[in-house]
Amino acid sequence: MTSNRAPIAVALDLPTLEAATTLAGAVGSTVAFLKVGLETYLRDGAAGVDTIRAAAGSDVELFLDLKLHDIPNTVAGAARSIAALEPALLTVHASGGPAMIEAAVSALPNTQVTAVTILTSLSAQDLAQIGYEGDPLSAVVRLARLATEAGAQALVCSPLEVAAVRSAVGPDVRLVVPGVRPAGSAVGDQQRVATPAQALHDGADLLVIGRPITAAGDPAQAAKDIAAEIARR
Ligand code: C5P
Repeated sequence: MTSNRAPIAVALDLPTLEAATTLAGAVGSTVAFLKVGLETYLRDGAAGVDTIRAAAGSDVELFLDLKLHDIPNTVAGAARSIAALEPALLTVHASGGPAMIEAAVSALPNTQVTAVTILTSLSAQDLAQIGYEGDPLSAVVRLARLATEAGAQALVCSPLEVAAVRSAVGPDVRLVVPGVRPAGSAVGDQQRVATPAQALHDGADLLVIGRPITAAGDPAQAAKDIAAEIARR
């Protein structure tokens, strides 16, 4: 984990590069990671990512949340395309299968390939419709094992799954957990939430937090307050 910064990745899901850059500058000295997802990357590209990082300061790490899912050769090429950004973390879908995950890992030796197990937006009924058998938690654990056996060094899972995933994959895999809400903050559209303290207690290493910081009146202070809540636990 990065130095003494809080184990938080701020999700920069914002409508303009200017807004993302301002936010990055506000939280860059408090949090360990900035998460750049499809909204920002598809609009602003690699040059936008450079601008955001320059505003945040050199120590903050890049979490590139592109959720790649394609044939192994194409994913390897996509991974090489973003190698110059030197992300600490890059997401791929575990359901792309072992060969795809191995291809991403080989293409990016200096990045932790981070496998998304099952999107938290999918209900048990959705999963049955697309052909997953069993309950969602067993599908998550199965995909977590598959991904780490294929070389993924990190996994994304919900707060409700993190304890089961931790016990399935052991202590060395980085567990990245969205759906985190500080006590008393708005839940928004997240269905399955936990407080920072609960998620860390259950085995999370890195908390993905968006709106509780990005939509706060004072994002810098909101990030500091959550960092303090984590440090007190
Ligand atoms: O604003 P909020 O804290 O809900 O943002 C959570 C971030 O985590 C968003 O960028 C969202 O895309 C991401 N995420 C998630 N659930 C997942 C995977 C990623 O909320 N299962």
